[in-house]
Amino acid sequence: MSELRKTGFLGVGCALPKNVLSNKQMEDIVDTSDEWILQRTGIKTRRILSDDESLLDLAAEAGRKAIEHAGIDRKLISYIRVGVNSHLRFPSLASLVQKELDIPDASASDISAGCSAFVFGVEESYNYLNIQKMIYDRDTYSLVIGADALSLVTDWTNRNTCILFGDGAGAVVLGPVKTGEILATYTRTQGRFADLLYLDDFLSSSIEDTDEMKMKSRNGTRYPYLQMDGRKVFAVAVKSLMHDVRAVIERYNTTVSEKITLDDIDYVIPHQANLRIVSAVQEGLKLRRDQVYRDGVINYGNTSTASIPIGYVEEWGKRSGTLQVDVTFGSGFASGAILRREAE
Ligand code: ACO
Repeated sequence: MSELRKTGFLGVGCALPKNVLSNKQMEDIVDTSDEWILQRTGIKTRRILSDDESLLDLAAEAGRKAIEHAGIDRKLISYIRVGVNSHLRFPSLASLVQKELDIPDASASDISAGCSAFVFGVEESYNYLNIQKMIYDRDTYSLVIGADALSLVTDWTNRNTCILFGDGAGAVVLGPVKTGEILATYTRTQGRFADLLYLDDFLSSSIEDTDEMKMKSRNGTRYPYLQMDGRKVFAVAVKSLMHDVRAVIERYNTTVSEKITLDDIDYVIPHQANLRIVSAVQEGLKLRRDQVYRDGVINYGNTSTASIPIGYVEEWGKRSGTLQVDVTFGSGFASGAILRREAE
């Protein structure tokens, strides 16, 4: 590994819908209050797609900005991964982004790993780029996007869930770097918790009768909604996020003689699900308040796969040369972390 050229983030970008939905406005939608939402979640506002905006618009804009920020020719990108949970159709959102950004010959596909799909995408990309270098001695670039519009799959009559989520997209370009390298990645899923946070099925099949291959009536079609046992998700999320920060440090330590500990970590960008989850993780890991990113959930709600790369845009370049961990958790329960050094 040490012989490989370093791989890291070259540029970041994000995109948010123009429509801001405040807690006060939520009071007109469901039986809730600004006070309850603030106290239980820390969320003040979220962004929701308008009729003239689409998930593809957000994903493509975030990707375009990340490429511009990286300052590379888009034609050099050979790998695109989009972490997304709300693109319930094909072709993949990744291939639509590829078309929109006019990237000629990349391998593009979506990743389904709940809110953690962006981190899964970074891990896949990191592995891909290192293998390209190791086997083919080829320097190439990848684009990883986290894009979600959970407003499309939210039951807007359910106060337990509709106050939590916001729409958005964030992106990163990975490639060879002199400084600012990824040091380790870690991902896992705990499938036994699958029924605590999931998206309803569409009608299981369009076929009513397999003997005659008769179709079901379309009128019976029910749009899928996000379902969640919030209290149980909360408890597992806190434990899992703390576990994964330690796990990615341990994984890195297996590759080096100079071991690091939690004390060496300067900053953590956790998935922005709920400010209380973020604070519990900060306290559990004995980090200072200013060592943990929290503005995302306050201003944009839980933007699912987009929350970590939105954090990158807001925190980029503030702590040059320091060690940072990005840590995630989501449906599946899919979770993971990235250990990286901020560029100098
Ligand atoms: N407004 C007012 N009251 C509400 C609302 C609301 N929006 N929602 C629930 N309540 C009520 C409940 O009905 C309940 O009333 P009851 O005691 O009379 O039955 C009371 O408030 C307490 O409900 P709880 O569910 O116990 O509230 P809790 O403190 O657990 O907060 C919340 C709920 C915010 C959903 C919390 O459990 C949570 O954040 N869980 C994690 C959810 C999450 O982050 N999921 C995503 C993670 S992974 C990913 O990002 C996809």
